[in-house]
Amino acid sequence: MKLKSLVFALSAAAIIAGNACAQAPILIKFSHVVANDTPKGKAAERFKELAEKATKGRVKVEVYPNSTLYKDKEELEALQLGAVQMLAPSLAKFGPLGVKEFEVFDLPYIFPSKEVLYRVTEGPIGKDLFKKLEPKGITGLAYWDNGFKVMSANKPLHVPADFRGLKMRIQSSKVLDAQMRALGANPQVLAFSEVYQALQTGVVDGTENPPSNLYTQKMHEVQKHVTISNHGYLGYAVIVNKKFWDGLPPDIRTALEGAMKDATKYANAIAQQENDAALAAVQKTGKTTIYTLNDKEKAEWRKALAPVQTQMADRIGKDLIAAVNKEAAALGQK
Ligand code: LMR
Repeated sequence: MKLKSLVFALSAAAIIAGNACAQAPILIKFSHVVANDTPKGKAAERFKELAEKATKGRVKVEVYPNSTLYKDKEELEALQLGAVQMLAPSLAKFGPLGVKEFEVFDLPYIFPSKEVLYRVTEGPIGKDLFKKLEPKGITGLAYWDNGFKVMSANKPLHVPADFRGLKMRIQSSKVLDAQMRALGANPQVLAFSEVYQALQTGVVDGTENPPSNLYTQKMHEVQKHVTISNHGYLGYAVIVNKKFWDGLPPDIRTALEGAMKDATKYANAIAQQENDAALAAVQKTGKTTIYTLNDKEKAEWRKALAPVQTQMADRIGKDLIAAVNKEAAALGQK
């Protein structure tokens, strides 16, 4: 090849490579531990759709559900290292990161209704909690709802005495540990991906989760009894690697913020119906007995679990607990 044509060919190749580089989409790996067919799974897919549309393909979102990429603890480490960019861990999983305040969401009966919950997540308390993530290299973007939890085991769970001696799987929250002990059970922390097998093999006897998680992980196949107790709440914080987020072109970040806002509306709109549908589906299998606590039993659960707030006050912060209770009182619900 003559020198002139060689120079021409090389410059053309450089232009093509340059264009390819300029057009390579920004990749967001979004890892989570639940099934696609849950409030979080569906909202993650909705975010992907909205984000890719809003950025006209300049951002590509890859969603990895069901712990296919990382399990609970690993995913938080991966986010901090930048191996993934986005997660939505349950609010009960921030303790090991050193942000214990999020465990306020786990306190039994702290939210008398979703109305109170939203005042907390959408108001100054939710924002202050997100600020605590910044020194960890994490930015909080949104709170996604799931729902109030049911309890399950292979025996009926009607009153606190029924929990005595049971090994109950919990998430890595000290509040949940205290909750299970207050009921007389032995709590055991396990990653979400390990729960089904642990229940099946008898490593643990029972667990708690909103019905959507119970059903989509098929836990009902290995749990004969489910109690609708609504004793505690489970929701998520959608979080991103701070360095990644701060380094995005401003127009892209704004577009992604818009997509997140819409995905959040969607997540919160479907949470209750997904859980109702899951409970109906469990009932339909005919394999699991679903029991709703009566008023007398509810009072017994409340009494047994009441000390947990005081026990955990030093860990979570008295002021934070009081601030949440104040939101409930403001709505006349405390
Ligand atoms: C659990 O580990 O029980 C759940 O928090 C999983 C999830 O993300 O909903």
